[in-house]
Amino acid sequence: MELYTPETLISEEEIIQRIDALGKAITQNFEGQDLIVICVLKGAFMFCSDLIKRINLPLKLEFISLSSYGDSTQSSGSVRLEMDITANIEGKNVLIVEDIVDSGLTIKILMEIMSVRKPKEVRLASLLFKPSKLKHPVRIDYLGFEIEDKFVIGYGLDYAGRYRELPYIGVLNAGN
Ligand code: PRP
Repeated sequence: MELYTPETLISEEEIIQRIDALGKAITQNFEGQDLIVICVLKGAFMFCSDLIKRINLPLKLEFISLSSYGDSTQSSGSVRLEMDITANIEGKNVLIVEDIVDSGLTIKILMEIMSVRKPKEVRLASLLFKPSKLKHPVRIDYLGFEIEDKFVIGYGLDYAGRYRELPYIGVLNAGN
């Protein structure tokens, strides 16, 4: 298999600089409080890992897995809960960490799942947001970058399971 190098949309340096600012904002907003960080697998693993290094609060890390895309570039329109968190979030501050908000369906479903568990507060951090694709209104409290309607890969985001390891956000061109 040939190694394909996708065109860069957002460089590693730009990503880290932005995450520094998000980490500071989260630290300030929750000052003096505990936080449960929920990383939405698989796409958010790299963002979440770099983000929590920059949050200066007592926090616990949880993982949840939801899937909507399968191997396609289009959302399937339904979201499956594949793996749940293990912590009890009742009365707790929760920060959900996503790689991208596209149609907003995943976050809509996730917020519904969380709200019945009665957390004190739920906030959302997303590295990317594609406003042109949004179908379900979403409030992103900590946003990395707003992007155009391009299929992006790298820094955790995949196409058919590949490219998650790239340290930057790239664009998948037709034919690759
Ligand atoms: C992607 C991404 C978000 C969701 C965004 O996950 O990680 O969770 O889609 O799309 P939406 O706003 O239209 O719901 P995916 O289902 O591809 O799973 P993955 O993170 O394991 O790659």
